[in-house]
Amino acid sequence: MARAAFFLVCFFFVFFGFFADAAVVEQTFEVGNLTVRRLCKSKIITAVNGEYPGPTINAREGDTVVIYVINHSPYNITIHWHGIFQRLTPWADGPNFITQCPIQPGHSYTYKFNIIGQEGTLWWHAHVSVLRTTVYGALIIQPRAGPLGYPFPIPYKEAVILLGEWWDADVVNLENLALASGGAFNNSDALTINGRPGDLYPCSKKHTYKLVVEQGKSYLLRIINAALNSQFFFKIAGHTLTVVAADASYTTPFPTDTIAIAPGQTIDALLHADSHPSNYYISALTYASSPAIPFDNTTTLAILSYTNSPTTTTPPLMPSLPSFNDTPTAHHFYSNLTALLLPQTQSLPLSISDRMFITFGLSLTPCSSDQPQCQGFALSANMNNVSFRFPTNISLLEAHFNGVEGVYTRDFPDRPPLVFDYTNPNVNAVGTSLQLSEKGTKVKRLRFNSTVEIVLQNTAVLASDSHPIHLHGFNFYVLAQGFGNYNHTEAVEKFNLWNPQVRNTIAVPVGGWAVIRFWADNPGIWFMHCHLDVHLPLGLGMAFEVENGPTPSSTLPPPPPDLPRC
Ligand SMILES: *[C@@H]1O[C@H](CO)[C@@H](O)[C@H](O)[C@H]1NC(C)=O
Ligand SMILES: *[C@@H]1O[C@H](CO)[C@@H](O)[C@H](O)[C@H]1NC(C)=O
Ligand SMILES: *[C@@H]1O[C@H](CO)[C@@H](O)[C@H](O)[C@H]1NC(C)=O
Ligand SMILES: *[C@@H]1O[C@H](CO)[C@@H](O)[C@H](O)[C@H]1NC(C)=O
Ligand SMILES: *[C@@H]1O[C@H](CO)[C@@H](O)[C@H](O)[C@H]1NC(C)=O
Ligand SMILES: *[C@@H]1O[C@H](CO)[C@@H](O)[C@H](O)[C@H]1NC(C)=O
Ligand SMILES: *[C@@H]1O[C@H](CO)[C@@H](O)[C@H](O)[C@H]1NC(C)=O
Ligand SMILES: *[C@@H]1O[C@H](CO)[C@@H](O)[C@H](O)[C@H]1NC(C)=O
Ligand SMILES: *[C@@H]1O[C@H](CO)[C@@H](O)[C@H](O)[C@H]1NC(C)=O
Repeated sequence: MARAAFFLVCFFFVFFGFFADAAVVEQTFEVGNLTVRRLCKSKIITAVNGEYPGPTINAREGDTVVIYVINHSPYNITIHWHGIFQRLTPWADGPNFITQCPIQPGHSYTYKFNIIGQEGTLWWHAHVSVLRTTVYGALIIQPRAGPLGYPFPIPYKEAVILLGEWWDADVVNLENLALASGGAFNNSDALTINGRPGDLYPCSKKHTYKLVVEQGKSYLLRIINAALNSQFFFKIAGHTLTVVAADASYTTPFPTDTIAIAPGQTIDALLHADSHPSNYYISALTYASSPAIPFDNTTTLAILSYTNSPTTTTPPLMPSLPSFNDTPTAHHFYSNLTALLLPQTQSLPLSISDRMFITFGLSLTPCSSDQPQCQGFALSANMNNVSFRFPTNISLLEAHFNGVEGVYTRDFPDRPPLVFDYTNPNVNAVGTSLQLSEKGTKVKRLRFNSTVEIVLQNTAVLASDSHPIHLHGFNFYVLAQGFGNYNHTEAVEKFNLWNPQVRNTIAVPVGGWAVIRFWADNPGIWFMHCHLDVHLPLGLGMAFEVENGPTPSSTLPPPPPDLPRC
């Protein structure tokens, strides 16, 4: 596999001029087969440029990013730039059949977008089938002024920590089997840090990722949860971390010894190498919010190694790990982050034009003809009782732009059709009536620059779970979160209208709710969905259709000429 060229057009600016104008960051992504060895076996995976995890994109706020994707793999592919606003470039957003048809084998597509008003750690990943298992990498946005622009002390060095999962089996096969039978997806066989399982797995010890630090220095860890289905607890033995950003939005510095991170989310944390010079384990294990759902109960490890640690044969120090179902620790972390208020921080919408109440979780739908091994009902998932059905021959965005009728309907409901005791674990005893959902491709239409407030309410139907809900095209403010059924009178008292955390993905508490707000100031079609990949083909998603505004700078431009065709 040819390794890709890494072009920095305008390299003058990048190397010599942190204060100079915006640059163009240009990179080629060749997607193809790669043979790697993990857990004592060799396997062909799909990877970018022969790297697993894939290459890091380094950009600065204000830059234009141009990624030329060439698909040599046997699969249809799309790439999503997770958390990038894609203002006026929804054609580059990437979710399959939402904003584009897939790049078919042997074809290519150029993703081009500007990075405006965002700094911190984001990432990119395949947004088709389960290919993001191995097709992912970091997308780092420095301030325009480089590290001098950080609102925290400049770290000595930075490191990317990509958390993921590994399957021995071919994941695309596993997904197809699960969908054909209407059943669930198999657990991963290992968790990984930067693609490596670490010391606790067979044949893995010599590949364990090592972060070498100098005593007395500080390091910025850019932690990304790239796993398909696992929320994680992340801990380093003997060290406290200070969170300074989440989902590429700065936070009030938040000291913690445990980080909770859901698929799709990122955390930037400062590590001070101020412990005794030695070796310490960096660890991640599953936060399993639902006792009823099987999960990967293994632990991935990396090593934090001080340069001046005495050579010793004693193993690195192991942190004390939270238990898998430690919801209080997860909630403490998730709910205590607040935004760092800076002059450029976009203000929270205070008057709301569109209020929605969205229930979501698992459900059942009658087996369809493309599910030959399914009997009676298939496992599905829904929002407001609509199990999202992807179009199969045109993207929603092309249908929207060209006014093609019959691809989607504009009747995504603002409220669930039925009010019930959403989070009561005994809700399943009522019978199947609450468990059924209907399939549909429904969008919620929004006027340009409307202000949207959504109560995200988990249900206990079939199983309670903490679902990480990801919104494309926008960041949102998290006003409050809690357990049980949402009660507005009580919740409004807890609304943080001063410095709410800003995110693109929120892990809605298991058996609970969260309230989010955003400005719909970006015309196009924007997907909102559960970032547990296992729930995506089951239908846990919906889309917003944001109308054009009054000016050319608020009007959706036509698609680029190389937009893939179905
Ligand atoms: C890639 O691997 C698949 C098996 O996973 C194989 O069928 C295909 O021929 C390979 N493609 C190339 C270009 O080697
Ligand atoms: C999936 O899990 C089931 C149940 O644990 C097991 O029987 C099966 O072999 C697994 N499939 C693969 C492909 O690993
Ligand atoms: C993980 O699950 C397996 C099978 O259910 C069990 O045998 C094992 O003890 C569990 N390990 C941990 C660390 O909980
Ligand atoms: C942190 O979260 C807990 C809930 O887990 C809450 O009781 C506590 O008040 C929060 N602390 C701060 C400083 O916000
Ligand atoms: C596209 O798919 C829909 C069903 O998903 C079907 O009704 C329609 O005829 C198809 N259109 C074309 C051009 O194939
Ligand atoms: C969802 O819709 C289905 C089909 O219309 C219906 O049978 C079911 O009762 C609805 N469930 C809820 C919770 O609204
Ligand atoms: C959106 O509306 C707010 C006031 O409600 C205004 O301040 C802002 O400029 C508008 N944004 C755009 C892009 O029109
Ligand atoms: C909501 O909370 C208020 C204040 O605690 C209470 O009076 C009311 O009964 C609650 N509503 C519901 C539907 O539980
Ligand atoms: C790839 O995409 C094309 C166009 O949408 C479709 O016809 C084909 O069935 C897809 N292939 C697979 C393996 O999904």
